[in-house]
Amino acid sequence: MNIKKLTSPLRGELNVPGDKSISHRAIMLGAISMGTTSVTNFLQGADCLSTISCFRKMGISIETEQEEILVKGKGLHGLSRPDTVLDVGNSGTTTRLLAGILAGQKFDSDLTGDESIQSRPMKRIIRPLAQMGAGITSVRGNGCAPLHIEGRSLKGIHYDSPVASAQVKSCVLLAGLYADDITSVTEPYLSRNHSEIMLDYFGATLTAEDTTVTIYPDPILEGQKVSVPGDISSAAYFIGAALLIPGSEILIRNVGVNPTRNGILRVCEKMGADITLMNVSAEEGEPTADILVRHSRLHGITIDGSIIPSLIDEIPVIAVLAAFAQGETVIRDAQELKVKESNRIDVVVSNLKAMGADVTATDDGMIIRGGQPLTGTLIDTKRDHRIAMAFAVAGLAAKGETQLLNGECVTISYPGFYQDLAALSR
Ligand code: S3P
Repeated sequence: MNIKKLTSPLRGELNVPGDKSISHRAIMLGAISMGTTSVTNFLQGADCLSTISCFRKMGISIETEQEEILVKGKGLHGLSRPDTVLDVGNSGTTTRLLAGILAGQKFDSDLTGDESIQSRPMKRIIRPLAQMGAGITSVRGNGCAPLHIEGRSLKGIHYDSPVASAQVKSCVLLAGLYADDITSVTEPYLSRNHSEIMLDYFGATLTAEDTTVTIYPDPILEGQKVSVPGDISSAAYFIGAALLIPGSEILIRNVGVNPTRNGILRVCEKMGADITLMNVSAEEGEPTADILVRHSRLHGITIDGSIIPSLIDEIPVIAVLAAFAQGETVIRDAQELKVKESNRIDVVVSNLKAMGADVTATDDGMIIRGGQPLTGTLIDTKRDHRIAMAFAVAGLAAKGETQLLNGECVTISYPGFYQDLAALSR
């Protein structure tokens, strides 16, 4: 995929696809609830389709032909033993959340995915699940997938998670549905709380205080209507592009702005961005808004601490913004970037350097001295969708032409990304 420097502003309105995290959870909770769950604005990206395919292999009928996805749930104990390995593709969310559900089943299962998934850390879920009494092993003994899971009865535990990870938290909470007693998780900082919101919406009993969530076992979950808000992680690339390209003004409609996800908005405002939220509303517990973005002159800031989990997936595009901003941006406490679909500290830093930016990798983030002129070059995306989209934004603002190696990997979370970008630049 080739991206040329944009010489005219971005103008117009768009709807970004449905939120990836919420789409996964709607399928999972729909499958283990009684009755039908209907999901509108479901993200038809490869990751969420992997979740659908795993639940189909466990006997759940999921109709995807119409705009509204219909999940015919069979209740907490209604899944059946899959005949084959469950293939999660590239999806960390599918792997970790599904493992929590599988741990409490009456059958054994095997779960694996692509090369990237097979190198991502799974000890972070193996540890708490084992404490609950689960039979979960990394088949190659390296702490990664493939995972073999022996279904067992589980004990309720309290888990002090060393990482602020919604995938770890959600895995333990989902296993907690199958436990003999209450289960709670405390994390160092609050990570995205979509599981908590949706579990409550489907009828589970849980409480949340500060960074601790407690769930009661064996609820009766009932199928619901879920309308998935637009994904702020996908909106982030358009926010970034509009901020960088002179004269731009765009409106992104119906974006999820849950406070555990909206760190990108807070950071952009601190960098001097002209962003206005309109039509803020909160259905099903998930706040949404239309986001108006105008081209702005940005300056560098420090990004660290509790805001990090709320923008962890947006750091690649934030780093691109920082490279075009005046002054220094320091990103700290973001060591989790190393274990995403690629090592996003190394990949962002090496690609920004290749474009001419003044940037240094640190152990838990990076330091970007903004304002150097950037020039298009060959960008190795490492088949990481967020790297591809972040550097597409860089390419729009850099001199010359940027080539994205394996740029088609955007299909993981945003199949129509390049078309949507082209539509705004016409
Ligand atoms: C996600 C949680 C985050 C995020 C990922 C989706 C989720 O991962 O990076 O894209 O849906 O729970 P971690 O929980 O590992 O931080």
